[in-house]
Amino acid sequence: LKLGIMASGSGSNFEAIAQAIANHDLLAQLQVMVYNNPTAKAAERADRLGIPKVLLNHREFSSREVLDAAIVDVMRDHQVDWIIMAGWMRVVTNVLIEAFPRRILNIHPSLLPSFPGANAIERTLAAGVKITGCTVHIVELEVDSGPILMQAAVPVLPDDTLETLHQRIQSQEHRIFPRAIALAAVQFGD
Ligand code: GRF
Repeated sequence: LKLGIMASGSGSNFEAIAQAIANHDLLAQLQVMVYNNPTAKAAERADRLGIPKVLLNHREFSSREVLDAAIVDVMRDHQVDWIIMAGWMRVVTNVLIEAFPRRILNIHPSLLPSFPGANAIERTLAAGVKITGCTVHIVELEVDSGPILMQAAVPVLPDDTLETLHQRIQSQEHRIFPRAIALAAVQFGD
């Protein structure tokens, strides 16, 4: 499996995937990491892990479609066959999805279809639910929709803050994302 990562922020899921590959828990290669935010910590991780990185700053593109076309070019240049959205904070368009049909995975910090979209953990806390979690799914056009590959449940504790709950969810994200990538390759072909 030749993976291309898309990240906007910390990149801890990116690193968990790199770690799973290094441990031989996931048979794959990381071809490239695309990021849109010049200050993303994910860029430092790519340097430390020795993985090529490409900055595509969304502010320098005239539309979502033009940005996505540039992402497609980078992924193709690096022979990527599966795209992994690991904390990619931009809405993607058909330009990306049609170039990699059923070959784009995303992770979301809730048990979809509950709490899709931005600020999912804030809204989870506000709703007062007692169980939440994370979901890995195939990306379709509607945000945080598409076939679900894997989920993990996480309890919401009485004194949870955004930070403590996010941390508990992220440890499950790091566990399931590499497994979901392997499962996707089996279920949806290589
Ligand atoms: C994760 O919590 C993921 O669910 C959401 O963005 C966050 C990315 O975290 N889509 P990181 O950049 O992988 O640390």
